[in-house]
Amino acid sequence: MIVVTGGNGQLGRQIVRALSERIGNGFTVTVREPAKAADLVALGITVKAGDFDKPEEVARAIEGADTILLMATLGSTEQRVKQYKNVIDAARRQGTKRIAFVGYIADQAESPFPSTPSIRQALAYMREEGFAPINLRNGNYAEAGLMTATRALQSGKIVSPAGNGKISYVTRRDLARATARILTESGNEGKSFALTGPKAYGHAELAAMLSEATGTRIVYEDISPESYKAQLEAANTPPGLVAFMTGAAATVKGGYLAEVSYTIGDLTGIAAEDGLAFIRREVQKTLKS
Ligand SMILES: NC(=O)c1ccc[n+]([C@@H]2O[C@H](COP(=O)([O-])OP(=O)(O)OC[C@H]3O[C@@H](n4cnc5c(N)ncnc54)[C@H](OP(=O)(O)O)[C@@H]3O)[C@@H](O)[C@H]2O)c1
Repeated sequence: MIVVTGGNGQLGRQIVRALSERIGNGFTVTVREPAKAADLVALGITVKAGDFDKPEEVARAIEGADTILLMATLGSTEQRVKQYKNVIDAARRQGTKRIAFVGYIADQAESPFPSTPSIRQALAYMREEGFAPINLRNGNYAEAGLMTATRALQSGKIVSPAGNGKISYVTRRDLARATARILTESGNEGKSFALTGPKAYGHAELAAMLSEATGTRIVYEDISPESYKAQLEAANTPPGLVAFMTGAAATVKGGYLAEVSYTIGDLTGIAAEDGLAFIRREVQKTLKS
């Protein structure tokens, strides 16, 4: 039996949809607030409470799972690793065979991405505990690129110390299609899957596309990391978020989000959508409405 954790999240919901299209309703979804998953219950999907911060609740939630999709959470490295360990420990105790982990493409040891240590520690712990984790190395969400685009359309600019770094934007929908496939096929233990869009784009290309698509001039200002930090602080951005945003920009600049693979198309038979095409379409939809 497959258990999808984090089923009420934006990616989680798409994975639940893709999985039900593939195998019907014979799987379990864990969420922190079951009341928000009444629609899934109505479809005949089993929904259980599974807050990773509550080890006993997690153990009950994953009972009978031979495959678990372990959703990445948010928070400090310490908080996240503790949460992942609660799930991994419960999985080991109850005999789960496979864990697929929602990772990230910028997972190299030297990556400046702030969440990378938690990803690496989770994968290392799974191996220590005898699992051969399936590492879903998700690319940067195209929906996050759309948020950058939306802000740029309001201010007329994209401001970031990201240099000429590129991002292989991928939609959550495409990630979900590939994940559903990986979860339902055998022989994926120990494998890493780079799940990205088909092409990587820099902020200058995003700005140029937005200018052309909207007829409004949008520019990319590549500023120094120090100025960026100062601007965020001047806007009263919480310190944790400043650290996250500067780390994320350094990740782009370092090229850690530029990796392109065609794995989604290879796995599913339908190529991943181009990230810039997705952003353009969504922006134009908003302009028309
Ligand atoms: N690839 C990218 O570009 C990118 C961008 C942003 C974030 N991420 C990572 O990918 C994850 C999924 O992305 P998303 O867009 O779906 O984010 P999201 O909508 O914020 O969903 C976060 C998910 O984490 C779950 N969660 C958080 N704390 C938890 C806990 N203590 N116990 C159990 N579940 C917990 C939430 O559970 P509930 O469903 O119960 O609320 C939810 O499913 C994020 O959490 C983050 O780690 C990736």
